[in-house]
Amino acid sequence: MTVHQIPNSLQLDTFWMPFTANRQFKAAPRMFASAKGMYYTTEDGRKVLDGSAGLWCTNAGHGRTEIASAVERQLTSLDFAPAFQMGHPLAFEFANRLAEIAPEGLDRIFFTNSGSESGDTALKIALAYHRANGQAARTRLIGRERGYHGVGFGGTSVGGMVNNRRAFSSAQLPGTDHIRHTHDLARNAFSKDLPEHGAELADDVERLVALHGADTIAAVIIEPVPGSTGVLPPPKNYLQRLRELCTKHGTP
Ligand SMILES: Cc1ncc(COP(=O)(O)O)c(C=O)c1O
Repeated sequence: MTVHQIPNSLQLDTFWMPFTANRQFKAAPRMFASAKGMYYTTEDGRKVLDGSAGLWCTNAGHGRTEIASAVERQLTSLDFAPAFQMGHPLAFEFANRLAEIAPEGLDRIFFTNSGSESGDTALKIALAYHRANGQAARTRLIGRERGYHGVGFGGTSVGGMVNNRRAFSSAQLPGTDHIRHTHDLARNAFSKDLPEHGAELADDVERLVALHGADTIAAVIIEPVPGSTGVLPPPKNYLQRLRELCTKHGTP
């Protein structure tokens, strides 16, 4: 296993770390030196269980040689082909395979490079969909309190973490609003399985429909299980009820 040696001359100031108290981190850096399977190893040789799989992005485990070999094979055969007017066969094959395992009807795949880009792209697709359907007035984007949809203007607008936009003059796209979150420790603390209470919170969509009019709403975007303000499973029947209400009001 290759262990990454951190040179003494390393300047920490040049890398501006996201969502991190930079001054504190750089005063006492916590660096990993290697990773294998479920564990990181620190510079001083301690093993640390990677309980969140990187940041939910190394779910197959660290240092998998079969993955490294597959990446090497691809990089040395056809590493890249533009997706504008040209094609890479593997992009199509990947789309085919995703469509096979996705729920029925989700069979058109648009690739992005990050969750932030995905959130903003999904919102744009909703706007374009309504416009193409002759409903160009549907421009309002509804998110949820405590939600996180990334760092783009769309994502921070429909996201419900106020600190993520406070520094940008509370930047929010015009015409965004939020339904209530479902985190309810008074009723749902220590739930086994999905929480019992809170399906009725989906009816908040009706409140916003009454306030703004369904014909102005382009999309309701929420995380089925929010991850950034605590991992919050949805109350039983909440997602189903939300889906029904969105369908009733013509919102994808
Ligand atoms: C629902 C959701 N949207 C967007 C993002 C942002 O993803 P990224 O950090 O890849 O931009 C996250 C990241 O946790 C997320 O959970």
